[in-house]
Amino acid sequence: MIYTVTLNPSIDYIVEVDDLTLGGLNRMTRDLKLPGGKGINVSRVLNQLEVQNTAIGFLGGFTGRYIKDWLHGEKISSDFVSVADDTRINIKLKAAEETEINGTGPVIRDAEADALLLKLEALQAGDTLVLSGSAPPSLGGDFYSKLIAVCKRKKAEFVIDTTGQALKDALALEPLLVKPNHHELAELFGVTIKTREEIITYGRRLMESGARYVLVSMAGEGALFISDQGVYYASAPSGTVRNSVGAGDSMIAGFVGTLSLTGDVLEAFRTGVASGSATAFSDDLADRALIEQLKPQIEITQV
Ligand SMILES: Nc1ncnc2c1ncn2[C@@H]1O[C@H](COP(=O)(O)OP(=O)(O)OP(=O)(O)O)[C@@H](O)[C@H]1O
Ligand SMILES: [Mg+2]
Repeated sequence: MIYTVTLNPSIDYIVEVDDLTLGGLNRMTRDLKLPGGKGINVSRVLNQLEVQNTAIGFLGGFTGRYIKDWLHGEKISSDFVSVADDTRINIKLKAAEETEINGTGPVIRDAEADALLLKLEALQAGDTLVLSGSAPPSLGGDFYSKLIAVCKRKKAEFVIDTTGQALKDALALEPLLVKPNHHELAELFGVTIKTREEIITYGRRLMESGARYVLVSMAGEGALFISDQGVYYASAPSGTVRNSVGAGDSMIAGFVGTLSLTGDVLEAFRTGVASGSATAFSDDLADRALIEQLKPQIEITQV
C-alpha cells in the first residue's frame, strides 16, 4: 500500500474576476473549490493511475469534511486524524495578475500528532510512505524525522518531497525517491545552477547522501533521473500550460505508482514526466486519458 501524508491540507478557493478593484465590490466570474495539499495531489493522481493508496494527515472542521467527502467521491481511501481546528482555506485570486492568500492552518495538538504516529504502526514491508510539503510550525522541526523513524522500524520505504533541513535530515535515512525541482536543488546546496551538468553533479550528491532515486524536475524543460544505474533525461511534451501547480506532485505519483505496478524505473520515469505535464496542461490535476496520451511523446535519452 502507498500512503500519502498531508500535514497541512487546504481547500483551494479559486476565484476569477474580470477587473479587480481593490477597496471596491468585485463580482466573481467563476469560482472553484478544490482539495489542496501536496500529499492529497499525489493520492488523486495515483488514483487516476489506478494505484491503490490511502491519504493520511490532519483534517478538521467543515473544511476538513469537504476534503474528506471529495476524496470519498473520487473513491480514494483516506484515514486522516481529526483535529480540533478547521483545515485552512487558501485563496487563489485570478484577475489580470494572480494573487494568492494562504491560510496558516490549524495548530496541531500533541495528542493529535501522536495519533498520526500511531496510524503509521500499520505500515508493513513493501509499503511506501510519501511525505510531501512542509510541516506546519506547531509540529516542530523534526516531525518528518519521527514519521520516518516509524517507517524504518516497519521496514517500509519512504519518498520525501520537501526542502531545507527536513530534506537534508531525511537523506541519510535512505529515501526511495527525492524530487527537488532545479531551483530547490540549487537552494539546498547554496549554489546557482546554470547547466545540465551542474544539475547532474548536485543530483548525484543527493544519491550519494542516501537517496536511491533522484528526480530533478525542470518544469517545461523536462526532468533528469539519476540512480546508480545511470543518468537519464526526458524532454517534456509540448502543450498549452493551464495550471502547473501540482505538476511536481503528479510526477511523484506517476513515478512511484508505476514503479509499484511494474518495477521498471524508466517506465516509471516516463509516466512521472507524462503525469507532471498532464497536470500542467489541465485546470485541475492530470487525468488518466491525458497521461496516456502524452506518454509516447516523451523521449528518454541516457546522458
Ligand atoms: N510548462 C510545462 N510544460 C510541460 N511540462 C511541464 C511544465 N511544467 C511542469 N511540467 C512537467 O511536470 C514536471 C514537474 O514540474 P515542476 O518542475 O514544475 O515541479 P515542481 O516545481 O515540483 O511543481 P510543484 O511543487 O508545484 O508541484 C516537469 O518535469 C514536467 O514534466
Ligand atoms: Mg515541488
